[in-house]
Amino acid sequence: MQTPGIGLNRAQFITSLSALALSLTTGGCEQIAQEIANRPTRKNIANLASNDPILVTWRSAITQMQALGGGDVFNWNSQANIHLNNCPHGNWWLLPWHSAYLVYMERIIRKLTGDSKFAIPYWNWANNHPVPGVFYNNDVLNDHNDSAHQITIASEFVAHDVLEPIMAQTTFELFASGKVVGQRTRGVSGPLEYTPHNNVHTTFPASGDMYNFVSPRDPIFWSHHAMLDYCWVDWQFGRGNANTSDPDWGNLHFTEFVDENRQPVNIPVAITPLFAIFDYQYEPSQIGLTTDTIKAIKTKSDANKLRAIARRGAPSALKVRQRFELPTATTVNVGAAALGRIAAPRATLDAAAKTGSGQRILVTLRNVDPPAAADFFVRVFVNAPGTVSDQTPITDPHYAGSFAFFQMTGMAMGPGGYVVDVTEAVRRVGAADALDVQLVAVPQPGREIRARGFTVGALELAIAELGAPANKG
Ligand code: C2O
Repeated sequence: MQTPGIGLNRAQFITSLSALALSLTTGGCEQIAQEIANRPTRKNIANLASNDPILVTWRSAITQMQALGGGDVFNWNSQANIHLNNCPHGNWWLLPWHSAYLVYMERIIRKLTGDSKFAIPYWNWANNHPVPGVFYNNDVLNDHNDSAHQITIASEFVAHDVLEPIMAQTTFELFASGKVVGQRTRGVSGPLEYTPHNNVHTTFPASGDMYNFVSPRDPIFWSHHAMLDYCWVDWQFGRGNANTSDPDWGNLHFTEFVDENRQPVNIPVAITPLFAIFDYQYEPSQIGLTTDTIKAIKTKSDANKLRAIARRGAPSALKVRQRFELPTATTVNVGAAALGRIAAPRATLDAAAKTGSGQRILVTLRNVDPPAAADFFVRVFVNAPGTVSDQTPITDPHYAGSFAFFQMTGMAMGPGGYVVDVTEAVRRVGAADALDVQLVAVPQPGREIRARGFTVGALELAIAELGAPANKG
């Protein structure tokens, strides 16, 4: 076995790996490769009939888990509480944490049902914006707290052409979210989290489960996160991008999950990219503008190639060449655009926006004090000549992206940040001797607005170098 990367020493790696490979028999290498090739498949839920064996298993497991006493770690709500009490959001552990959460849920379900092939089916919201119909039948896959009306996710959050620029980011912290010190500290959220992830949650009714941190009570949560995980898996193994090499990322241990024997586990983050090689695989579908090209594992050498990608790390922080700041606070109220003007030389912005410059123009909203209720999302426009509004279409060339808040209503989550890549928008509309950033708070469709707005502590404009280009392993 080669020495692993991403901040994990060989002994730790082997310990974690053997825990992870428990379900594999200790046969010869080819036999193990065989078992990896036959690992359970997370299917596209759109392809499953409502009596598909996967859904039969899933309903049976949920029924059993709901019937268990509240003191049992397998109890359905106890499992949701693992999320409520530990989930990292707004930081670089979002993806590995939720990935591990799903893996242990799958192992529990396999154990409870005896269906060793079970894997959580994913909801590809890019292909299918409405919530899949199986979640509205009269059975346990229907969380009645969320099903007052059927939900469709707006295409501006999840369409393929919205996902493509996110999937095309090559730097981990700009694809996922940014570095922080503690597991639940809020840092700077990246676009995969703040656009599709957060908006899928907050499109659901504010009185329901999906809208906040008890969302795992709703089975939709698991299919939503199986899709989010698929985006990460495709980013790594299809598009060939490296996670961060910062040891502070890989060396954090998650200790809040339990395995299929109700035993607490202790796993380093660095192991989580390997789950998609050993524990499960994805039935391919389209994410962004390409269809998943993850190579199937047929031989030991296929497995090793993917393992090499998973272990490879790259610098994940952005290399910032120049930084400009608007240190004053901006208040954004629902119903009116707020403007922040960040002074920066036109020539610098022009040069960075040029195709092939190897640079990105990034606007970071710092010290964002989140609203008390996440009933709106925020569209970002740059250099618009007049005042924009919530009627300004997102086809407007000055539109640069949008973000949403995901939190517990009434729970102080602390301020966070949002980084928006405005390079393409500046290229389309041209630079000036300042970057005008307009923020528009737009109510989620059909939502009663309980919070009037939010405050951005400071706006930052950074000219950053592109991360190392993706290369396939
Ligand atoms: Cu921790 Cu989508 O939730």
